[in-house]
Amino acid sequence: MPSLCVFGAQWGDEGKGKIIDHLSDQADLVVRYQGGPNAGHTVVIGSETFILHLIPSGILRPGRVNVIGDGMAVDPFRLLEEIDGLRQRGVAVDPECLRLSARAHLIFEHHRRIDAAKERWRGEGRIGTTGRGIGPCYADKAARTGLRLSDLLEPERRRERLLAVLAEKNAVLEKVYGEEPLDLESELERAASVAETLRPFVTDAGAFVRQAHADGRRILFEGAQGVLLDIDAGTYPFVTSSNTGPSGLAAGASFPPNRIDRALGICKAYTTRVGAGPFPTEIEGEEGDLLQSRGDEFGATTGRRRRCGWFDAVAVRYAAEVSGADGIILTKLDVLSGFPEVRVGVAYRRGEQRWTRWPAEVPDLEGMEVEYAVRPGWTGDLGSVREWGGLPAGAREYVHWIESAVGVPVVMLSVGPERDQVIQRDDFFEPLGAPSGAGSAGAGPGSPRA
Ligand code: GDP
Ligand code: IMO
Ligand code: MG
Repeated sequence: MPSLCVFGAQWGDEGKGKIIDHLSDQADLVVRYQGGPNAGHTVVIGSETFILHLIPSGILRPGRVNVIGDGMAVDPFRLLEEIDGLRQRGVAVDPECLRLSARAHLIFEHHRRIDAAKERWRGEGRIGTTGRGIGPCYADKAARTGLRLSDLLEPERRRERLLAVLAEKNAVLEKVYGEEPLDLESELERAASVAETLRPFVTDAGAFVRQAHADGRRILFEGAQGVLLDIDAGTYPFVTSSNTGPSGLAAGASFPPNRIDRALGICKAYTTRVGAGPFPTEIEGEEGDLLQSRGDEFGATTGRRRRCGWFDAVAVRYAAEVSGADGIILTKLDVLSGFPEVRVGVAYRRGEQRWTRWPAEVPDLEGMEVEYAVRPGWTGDLGSVREWGGLPAGAREYVHWIESAVGVPVVMLSVGPERDQVIQRDDFFEPLGAPSGAGSAGAGPGSPRA
């Protein structure tokens, strides 16, 4: 099973960082294919917590090659901060273990400014973006006015293209949004100042990944955000600006779609969402607050309080279907322990109409009420459970219940933030297979210390 895509199957923050770090023990390459510093992927190793925004979550295991793919939106200044931050904590980050696609698009100051200005302009209809310039960067990519890493490395080209873009962006900032213009020369200088530091990391990432695959190396593709935030499949316009699941992988990693062996969607045992937009199973009031505090649900990128709700089987079934998920990895099951009853949303209703499939024809899922299946909860600390049979019967029944509502097996569970707090369902599990040998990074858990 040499290539595996692991992606978020809800509205982001499903625990992708934790799971990718865990699985990267068995991988040679970890490749991100979309999104940018809007992502916040948390990896907990003992007393240390790492939050990764641009760098793939395999970076904490020595010997893995981490790739920032073509489809990503890279803020070069934030990337350098992230590299420095990791190095200061003893993590090796060098061109041996981090490759940066020459085709990845760049986020500059004007993207962040426009992101913020657009949000203000939207008023009540604001999306609640992370403010990292993601939408404006991908908009420039589609409009064919973006700059890529390859442009940054060529001084003449960089100057020419950045000046042309900034002239237009300054006009927009001043005339449309009433903002101060950016100083062209200092923006150019800032861009030039990062180019040489990044140069050794930059490569034809697609060719690198395809060659690694041809050599039999095991590749883990790391999605960011989640399918319900996908620009096409998600709750548009309350979405991010990329294709978040396996559909984004092919273009975003320059990797043929028919070479993706397996896709696993990550879900929380309940649901969270940061920012605005429809959230049918959201719990208002005390019970929602309880879930929020027990799950410690604060955004890893912006620190915002996450909205919390019950597991939505209509949404996850849809996410699994559109992504061709072979299975689900269910995280944060431990957080539900102690709730007297647990609920799963199994259908939506509006007036006389009832939907068990995702109602794409209803904008913003307006007026939807949720039909729940309700079960008694379970108690006990699940954090030290490592075997399926060690879970309380109520928790196992909950998992079975989710499997039948979603239509794909739960192949693995997570019962705490630490990298080893997982339960593998051995009857399903075969993540990346045996070590490849050829250029393998070697098996066994790595330490974050280089
Ligand atoms: P990501 O964006 O999908 O990588 O998820 P985030 O890192 O933004 O948010 C997930 C949060 O849940 C992080 O604080 C993780 O450390 C934590 N976490 C992950 N898995 C579990 C789990 O199974 N149980 C608990 N209690 N926390 C978890
Ligand atoms: P990870 O990878 C949760 C949300 C924002 C906002 C919408 C658009 O950690 O799961 P953007 O800045 O992308 O234009 O914001 O998407 N969002 C996320 N929510 N987790 C994320 O990433 C997110 N990345 C973006 O809150 O609602
Ligand atoms: Mg996150």
